[in-house]
Amino acid sequence: MTLEEIHEEIKKCRKCELYKTKTNYVPGEGNEKAKIVFVGEAPGREEDLQGRPFVGAAGQYLTKTLEKCGIKRSEVFITNILKCRPPNNRDPKPEEVEKCFPYLVKQLHEIKPDVIVCLGRHSAREILNFFGKKFKGISADRGKIFEAELDGKKVKIIPTYHPAAVLYKPQLKEYFEEDIRKVASFFKRKTLLDFIGE
Ligand code: URA
Repeated sequence: MTLEEIHEEIKKCRKCELYKTKTNYVPGEGNEKAKIVFVGEAPGREEDLQGRPFVGAAGQYLTKTLEKCGIKRSEVFITNILKCRPPNNRDPKPEEVEKCFPYLVKQLHEIKPDVIVCLGRHSAREILNFFGKKFKGISADRGKIFEAELDGKKVKIIPTYHPAAVLYKPQLKEYFEEDIRKVASFFKRKTLLDFIGE
């Protein structure tokens, strides 16, 4: 299945009630061959209106931080655990996560990234659980590198704070940037090794 086919499937989804209140599905966007996949929680108001992930205030801050750390938004893939906005940005319900998570799994099988960055506690909890890792809380686990396997290939999972939480609590900025720099260092190392044919 191609990413486009997965996204077409998402756009027909009626597995939970969120399709009734959303404006647009937000399957995710970015490079099909991305080495890094960023996973947030769920679309917010602006994302719902545009059908694109991380385009509101938190998204703009994420994009700016990526660029500051040497990562172009166009070279990564960005998505969320939920592909539809929960009304009033409430927390995702367990049954919504259960129904929607398989779409993320399909996207990951297709992209086969080297690194998955979990943005925020909901994303970190669900993704670490899926890979059989224990989630101890976002402050305990941020910046840690969890090693897992996807389709027989090693994948690193790095949780960090949600950019909206960082905007709300500016004292988290230095930790968030430190984590994104760590992600960027893997990316650059890998790219260089690719280049010299390792
Ligand atoms: N917050 C998220 O978790 N995802 C988005 O796409 C936007 C805001």
